[in-house]
Amino acid sequence: MRSIAIDGPSGAGKSTISRRLARDLGFLYVDTGAMYRVVGLYALRHPETPIAEALENIRMDMRYQDGLQRMYLNGEDVTDAIRRHEVCRAASDVSALPGVRAFLLDRQRSFAKTHDVIMDGRDIGTVILPDADIKIFLTADAEDRARRRYDELCARGTAPDYQTVLSDLRKRDYNDAHRAAAPLTPAAGAVIVDTTGNTFEESVRALKRIIRKKLRL
Ligand code: DC
Repeated sequence: MRSIAIDGPSGAGKSTISRRLARDLGFLYVDTGAMYRVVGLYALRHPETPIAEALENIRMDMRYQDGLQRMYLNGEDVTDAIRRHEVCRAASDVSALPGVRAFLLDRQRSFAKTHDVIMDGRDIGTVILPDADIKIFLTADAEDRARRRYDELCARGTAPDYQTVLSDLRKRDYNDAHRAAAPLTPAAGAVIVDTTGNTFEESVRALKRIIRKKLRL
């Protein structure tokens, strides 16, 4: 099985780009951030429940429909609910907890044993799939990423103002890069790709070049 690890801060375009690459190259796309968001959503709904107990109560399922990954929390389809702004923060909070990371690690690795995967997240190249065939660290300026995230949230009708999105993004960047458990950092051997100012198609082309060359596709 072949695996491509794509890590980077939020808003760099990881998920939209990875989804397209997976479709074009015939790989399975695995969005690991969605898993943290499911745990974050549960924590938001059950603020009194200690996290260890919460993890015992969570039955998380991932199903693919027309190539799209849908997330289920105890049987409920939460694919849209986990995209809400407050769930971003909750996901970032729970992702700092080693117990939560351990809870998700085996699930994430098992996909790569049975499928050709493009997996995106924060620690895919460093922790989950250190032997991935290709590791990419996708990044962009904070303003550029906040603008994309803002547009995305507007399209869903749930956007706060741009300044709030930018300051939340900076806070999350800081948390993700400074937490003790699997901090966000480029993996050894990762190709760093900066998408600042790129259109979506330009970023897709840049990554395809890297992947095709390395995998001889
Ligand atoms: O990529 P995203 O915004 O959906 O991720 C949600 C949160 O989960 C984000 O704060 C970072 C965290 N995360 C992580 O710590 N490790 C991953 N592999 C994926 C996401």
